[in-house]
Amino acid sequence: TFVVTDNCIKCKYTDCVAVCPVDAFFEGPNFLVIDPAICIDCALCMPECPADAIFQDTELPPDQSEYLQINAELSQQWPNINEVIPAPADADDWNGVPNKLPLLER
Ligand code: SF4
Ligand code: F3S
Repeated sequence: TFVVTDNCIKCKYTDCVAVCPVDAFFEGPNFLVIDPAICIDCALCMPECPADAIFQDTELPPDQSEYLQINAELSQQWPNINEVIPAPADADDWNGVPNKLPLLER
């Protein structure tokens, strides 16, 4: 499965959802996640993310490993998203800021 990681938080550009052939993305207040049971590993979303926040689980950086569980858990709680929506006005200011997990709204 592919996994959305830390740098999506407060960036939430949603370019990723436009290309997913199986609508595997789910939307929270300031973050998106992928349902690992739906993702078919097509890899199309990864290069679309302006924040470089999407990784295959097998290539997840060690400091992002907790996002495996976060994607699995929150995809069961949040609504599906399959259309691009405007990013937060300050998304570019947050792109690249490390360790945004404390800012994740559930
Ligand atoms: Fe969707 Fe493919 Fe990305 Fe999985 S890898 S979330 S199937 S676009
Ligand atoms: Fe997040 Fe990147 Fe998608 S910032 S919403 S994973 S395009």
